[in-house]
Amino acid sequence: MSDQKTALVTGASRGIGAAIAAKLTADGVFVVGTATSDAGAESIAQRLGDQGAGLTLDISDAESVAQVMSRVGEIASAPLVLVNNAGITKDNLLMRMSEAEWSDVIDTNLSGAFRVTKPVLRGMLKARWGRIINVGSVVGRLGNPGQGNYVASKAGLEGFTRSLAMEVASRGVTVNAVAPGFIATDMTEALTEDQTKIMLERIPLGRMGEADEIAGTVSFLCSQSAGYITGQTVQVNGGLLFG
Ligand SMILES: NC(=O)c1ccc[n+]([C@@H]2O[C@H](COP(=O)([O-])OP(=O)(O)OC[C@H]3O[C@@H](n4cnc5c(N)ncnc54)[C@H](OP(=O)(O)O)[C@@H]3O)[C@@H](O)[C@H]2O)c1
Repeated sequence: MSDQKTALVTGASRGIGAAIAAKLTADGVFVVGTATSDAGAESIAQRLGDQGAGLTLDISDAESVAQVMSRVGEIASAPLVLVNNAGITKDNLLMRMSEAEWSDVIDTNLSGAFRVTKPVLRGMLKARWGRIINVGSVVGRLGNPGQGNYVASKAGLEGFTRSLAMEVASRGVTVNAVAPGFIATDMTEALTEDQTKIMLERIPLGRMGEADEIAGTVSFLCSQSAGYITGQTVQVNGGLLFG
C-alpha cells in the first residue's frame, strides 16, 4: 500500500459531504465516501475514480459501521482523516415532537459520530497523526425553533469535539468541528420560501453558502498547516453568528 493518506467521509453522496470528498481527493488524499444506499455508494465510486471508493453505511446501525470498518481495512490504509459529516433533520415543535423524531436525529447525528470515530482512533494514535472533523451547525449555538432534536445533536457534537480533542492531543491527533450556516443543499432545499427569506435577511453576507466553502475549511483543518488547532468549532456562516 502507498503512503497516500486515507480519509473516511460519511454522507459523501450529496451536498456538503460530496464537496468535502471532492476537495480532499484534490488534496491528494484517498477518500472512502459513504452513502446510505448501494446506488449512492456506486455514484461516489464513479465520481472519485481511482482516488477513492464508495461504501454503503448507516451510521445509526452499529453492525453497518462494523462492516464498513472492516471493508475500509481491505481496500485502503487505516484512515488518518475522518469527517463525520452525515446528518439528518426531523423538524417539529417540541410540543409535537415524537419520541422517534427525537431519537432518530440524536442517534444519527450524535451517536453516529461516536460509532464511527471510536474504531478509527486506534490507527491515528498508532500513527501519532490524525485529523477528525465533526460537521456541526450554526444552530448548535444559535438554537432554532422546531429543531430541538437537531440543535441538541449539533451542540452535543461540539462538546464531543472538545472532550475528544483533550483525550488524543498528546498523540498528534486534532479534533475540530466545522459549523456551517445556511448552505445550498438538499437539506435547505426542503425549507419553505418564507423560511428561506427570513434566514437570508439575517445573514450579513446576504446569501446562502456553497458546499465548496465548507469543504475548503475542512480541507484546511485536515492539512499539516492546521496542526496547532484543536478542540475548536469553526463557524462558516456568512456572519450569521460571530464568535
Ligand atoms: N445544508 C446546510 O445548510 C447545513 C447547515 C448546517 C449544518 N449542516 C450539516 O452538514 C452535514 C451535511 O449536510 P447536507 O446539507 O449536505 O445534507 P444532505 O444534502 O441532506 O446530505 C446528507 C448526507 O448524509 C447521509 N446520511 C443521512 N443519513 C445517514 C445515515 N443514517 N448514515 C449515514 N449517512 C447518512 C446522506 O446519504 P444518502 O444520500 O444516502 O441519503 C447524505 O450523503 C449534516 O451534518 C448537516 O447537519 C448542513
